[in-house]
Amino acid sequence: MTDTTATRRGTVLVVDDEAGVRASIRAILDGTCEVLEAPSGTAALELLRANDVDVVMLDQRMPGEAGIDILPKVKAHDESIVVVLATAVHDVRTAVEALRRGAYDYLTKPFDVDDIFGLVQRALEKRALEDEVIRLRSALAPAGLHSGQGFEGMIGRHSDMVRIYQLITQIAPTPTTVLITGESGTGKELVARAIHNESGRRTQPFVAVNVAALPETLIESELFGHEKGAFTGAHARKLGKFELAHGGTLFLDEIGSLRLDLQAKLLRALQQREIERVGGVRPLTVDARVVAATNINLRQAVREKTFREDLFYRLNVVPITLPPLRERRDDIPTLVEHFVRKVARECHRDVRGVSAGALDVLVRYDWPGNVRELENAIHRAVVLAGGPVIQLQDLPLDVALPETRSRLAEDTGLPLREACDQFERQYVLRVLERVGWNVSRAARMLGVHRNTVLAKLSGWGVRRPADPEGRSVSL
Ligand SMILES: Nc1ncnc2c1ncn2[C@@H]1O[C@H](COP(=O)(O)OP(=O)(O)OP(=O)(O)O)[C@@H](O)[C@H]1O
Ligand SMILES: [Mg+2]
Repeated sequence: MTDTTATRRGTVLVVDDEAGVRASIRAILDGTCEVLEAPSGTAALELLRANDVDVVMLDQRMPGEAGIDILPKVKAHDESIVVVLATAVHDVRTAVEALRRGAYDYLTKPFDVDDIFGLVQRALEKRALEDEVIRLRSALAPAGLHSGQGFEGMIGRHSDMVRIYQLITQIAPTPTTVLITGESGTGKELVARAIHNESGRRTQPFVAVNVAALPETLIESELFGHEKGAFTGAHARKLGKFELAHGGTLFLDEIGSLRLDLQAKLLRALQQREIERVGGVRPLTVDARVVAATNINLRQAVREKTFREDLFYRLNVVPITLPPLRERRDDIPTLVEHFVRKVARECHRDVRGVSAGALDVLVRYDWPGNVRELENAIHRAVVLAGGPVIQLQDLPLDVALPETRSRLAEDTGLPLREACDQFERQYVLRVLERVGWNVSRAARMLGVHRNTVLAKLSGWGVRRPADPEGRSVSL
């Protein structure tokens, strides 16, 4: 066995004053990981300084320092080392204290071979999973635009996004009208806010109006205001959004839903910088920078005569088109990281990352609802996660089982055999994920032999996510 293989497989340090105990643990673990031995706490700490150790098995009763007192020193050396304490059968209090001091688990003496084997496997897998999460983080850490955090609250370094950040910087200081297009949830409102924040108007109001969300009868007075008595119910003068945005930015969301007669009024407001309140007698000058957004194809609306051509060209002076998330998948890990942090903070949850398997699914999913859908999925996962790492089973079914959903949605005539195969694959993967890719445990849960699981995995071409060479699967 070469050194590299040994390191990748994990290193276990056995600390026990009895040479016989050390030798038997070595024999049990032989072939699955590298084993180091130390007869005392002092010797153990020395070995830790010289070697990369993943798991420390500490005996509680040794001459000199007891295991429970060595434990904090191991953790002080490297917080992420997984420590297992070996106690006497009746010593429950020490076991509890060990867990309190950061031990991962405890074993009782005399040892059961299966217990040792299983526990060390789990401990090594926990380490591998954490390594994977840490690796993901450091891969994300390097600076990019605005220290890697994207731009004005927008995450993403895909070239389309970078071009959009540049465009925003260029046009923000000018009074030009901007038309933002993009599918639902791609970040149109974020772009509108960024334009406002990057402009000289940032200290003035940013007023957002969703044209589609307002009742038809109210839109005109919402936008342009009304005079007292202009219509039944107009008990007092009301300022419209144009006036409220004076000096600042007016964001007209879902502009494609604006009624044709109001499109004419909007055009006039844009061209002459004048508006008229409903029931008003003279025009008022307003200085609001208009940014509009739509998720429909306005050019087509123009062809279909539901949108005024002149207004379209007036709005479309500077077009910004946001790419759908599925066209910038490389940004998904950064977005996931961002949302995990954000939601964990807001919901007071100790969730720090996602498993490699879950991330893989998140990156491959098509995200019809784009960033908003991803944000919601992560929110749900953070709230549901049973531990510090989000697992596949914490993700919404739509995301975790997209094949089933899309196939069943568009084609319920799927042959039973194929539907069963799909379900089987997803189910087995979920169980594996739940037990940290411990094939033996998964096999026990599934009620099949572990060779069956291994055969299925190789048939599907699936490898254990944390290990690119799939080594652990063949344990
Ligand atoms: N690049 C991004 N980085 C971080 N968060 C983003 C990004 N894009 C969108 N979001 C988040 O996703 C959600 C949806 O964004 P936003 O409301 O701007 O989308 P939209 O295009 O206006 O959607 P809709 O068409 O449905 O109104 C928001 O919570 C927003 O903060
Ligand atoms: Mg929006």
